[in-house]
Amino acid sequence: MAAKDTARATPTHVAVIMDGNGRWARQRGSHRLAGHKRGAERAREVVEACPDLGIDYMTLYAFSTENWKRSTREVLGLMSLFGRYIRREADRLADEGVRMRIIGDRTRIDPKLQRLFSWIESRTRHNDRLHLQVAINYGGRNEITRATRRVAEAVARGELAPDAIDEATIAAHLDTAGLPDPDLVIRTSGETRISNYLLWQCAYAEYEFTDTLWPDFTAEKLDEIVTRFRQRERRFGAVS
Ligand code: FPP
Repeated sequence: MAAKDTARATPTHVAVIMDGNGRWARQRGSHRLAGHKRGAERAREVVEACPDLGIDYMTLYAFSTENWKRSTREVLGLMSLFGRYIRREADRLADEGVRMRIIGDRTRIDPKLQRLFSWIESRTRHNDRLHLQVAINYGGRNEITRATRRVAEAVARGELAPDAIDEATIAAHLDTAGLPDPDLVIRTSGETRISNYLLWQCAYAEYEFTDTLWPDFTAEKLDEIVTRFRQRERRFGAVS
């Protein structure tokens, strides 16, 4: 589903690849976790700025299916940071009308953290001022594989005919079912890859790459990027 088919609109859905935490920490002689901690503070500031910028949906890439390859200390530190973020931010998110959802494959996540995910989702489920998705143990290929498996199971049960499968069927089985596709993807830290992020959903997204490391990214920088986005003409394959 394309969020806003009109050209030069504010992006309804912004997806962010928060990259550069490790380099930010190294520049300061600190452990990588110090960069992630500052990164979580930036996430909070950026999320808070969304409603005023006209952004209704924000999806943050916090931990990829590939990030398990990092040291045990970093992986455990990140998992504990996610738990702290949820516990500390819960009241504020609820007060500010933010609905929080976690996307990704939960089966590998510690059961205690999984319970916290369900708790915050349930606590904020009636909010709609901003929809915040945090991608944890997320990979686009993994998500499409899991969706395909569920579609195949529905076929095997006789609930779905193979020739009835269309794009809407696949989209409805993704973690992002019901959410509009991102209009804009931002990646920080100067890397120009998409790293397995929202592969299906970003078919028509615009991309912005900035050299700023994520722990230095601010609401003002988001504002500048959104302003630039408004100058772009989006044609969705049509002729202007
Ligand atoms: C990539 O930078 C960043 C991550 C893998 C972790 C991102 C997580 C946060 C910012 C915490 C936010 C938490 C919530 C719940 C919103 P990197 O470590 O790959 O940096 P590098 O490329 O400089 O090494």
